[in-house]
Amino acid sequence: MVLYLIGLIPIITALVWLRHRVSDIIIRRAGGARAPVLAGNLLSASKLYYEIGKNQYHNRLVDWCTSQLDSLPPGKRTFAEFSLTGSKRVLITRDPEQIKAILATKFPDFGHGPMWHKLWYPFLGDGIFGVDGQLWHDSRGMIRPMFSKDRLRNLAIFDACTDKLVSKIPSSGATVDLKDLFYRWSLDTTTEFLLGENAGSLEFPIAPLVPKGDYYRGIKRIEQFIEPIIARTLAICPTRLQELSKSYMEFSFLHSIALYTRDPKLIRDQIMSVLFAGRDTTAATLSWAMYELSNYPVMWTKLRKEILHKLGPQATPTYEILKDLTYLKNVLNETLRLHPAVPLNMRQVLETTTIPGRSGEADIVLLKGDSVTINVLGMHTCADLYPPTSEHFADLKIFSPERWEHWTPKPWTYIPFSGGPRICIGQNFALTEMAFCLVRLAQQYEKIEYRGDWTAQKLQVDLIGTPALGVSLALYKPGEEQDSLSKHHID
Ligand code: HEM
Repeated sequence: MVLYLIGLIPIITALVWLRHRVSDIIIRRAGGARAPVLAGNLLSASKLYYEIGKNQYHNRLVDWCTSQLDSLPPGKRTFAEFSLTGSKRVLITRDPEQIKAILATKFPDFGHGPMWHKLWYPFLGDGIFGVDGQLWHDSRGMIRPMFSKDRLRNLAIFDACTDKLVSKIPSSGATVDLKDLFYRWSLDTTTEFLLGENAGSLEFPIAPLVPKGDYYRGIKRIEQFIEPIIARTLAICPTRLQELSKSYMEFSFLHSIALYTRDPKLIRDQIMSVLFAGRDTTAATLSWAMYELSNYPVMWTKLRKEILHKLGPQATPTYEILKDLTYLKNVLNETLRLHPAVPLNMRQVLETTTIPGRSGEADIVLLKGDSVTINVLGMHTCADLYPPTSEHFADLKIFSPERWEHWTPKPWTYIPFSGGPRICIGQNFALTEMAFCLVRLAQQYEKIEYRGDWTAQKLQVDLIGTPALGVSLALYKPGEEQDSLSKHHID
């Protein structure tokens, strides 16, 4: 058997080589070129796939992706391709012009693809995040009204959940994993927004809504929570729903979709999609923000000062005040630059197409079935695309909200919320919700302190990039630092 398999190796190698040559011909006929090739035969591609697996396991996949581009000759470091079999290629890119083509100008030629739909169907069904084409278009139209600016002015849904979050933070000086609390908080705020009832995961820390581990058990658990709420909503007559739509307080996302469709499965799918898109992203971003701020006490003090100046230690922020807090906005922008929640965004090529090559060179041909990995983090930290380091512009590897005081990124070089027709529909919701939470924390706590090895942190990526080691902090209320030190001393 082993000898038989060994005997097959030359045949497979020859077939792969042949497949590469066939692709070469198709690409030439389409009038363009290939991207620089990282691995063009079976041996080098197998080694590359092994490295992908190894780096994913060690939470270094994004760094690996970026290092592959960095290894190319100077001036050619923005995109490259590889393929195991020669037929389905993968393009890694951090080239702004290419990204613009993929996400915007050549939008119909790219999508999440049939594989994605199949893989995620048990969870997302035909909701907005799982589909392409007309189904996607209809979904986007269905959910858009709930993300209007007017709807977002109602911050009441964040208020109660954020109070609950703050109440779970232990007394000054005691250690807490804020990442865990943020994940519970964002599940509660997102379900409150979607369903008008929240999952209460900050309340019941022992039985979280989504059990860890089993994918199908997790889906069942969420369905058990949302399906009775959907059934209750569908029992409301359309005229009453129309009436409810005038009330910002009572009208939920679920009510809004029930005005479009009475199909409980489609409603479930849309809710799952928005829950999926909106929950981990905000929780991860807030976790990274607090992780970074805990390393720079001066920044925490500056942020707190801005917030206290506008609101004092108690007042509830309004939508307008949140949008007026410049340093807070810079903190969030910088967090999303250095820790984009989707560090690698994927697309499949739905129709053979071309995207720009390097300036003055041939276009790059992508064939139907190829995939694209947009290296968002790689682009956000690429020295060739951003201004050089200076007094006002810190090294790109460093967290510096101050750089935003003098700088606006060029189009398509900063895309934490993606871009084009499929840009994050929840962007404003997310920025408002995260700002609200940071305001509440900064109003209450004078000082934050990282507990653990700050430099040991790693980026764990399962679609969403999250701090692998959690974010263990101690938070101090004004004047309580000394008290807590002496208390610990007596203990
Ligand atoms: C920091 C927070 C967030 C970040 C960084 C973020 C980022 C993104 C990105 C990069 C995409 C595009 C994904 C792709 O191209 O495949 C996306 C899509 C989406 N986001 Fe967000 N997101 C955030 C929060 C939210 C929130 C709070 C919601 C809703 C409550 C939301 C709802 C959605 C939806 C529904 C889509 C799919 C849009 C479509 O396919 O047309 N996101 N988001």
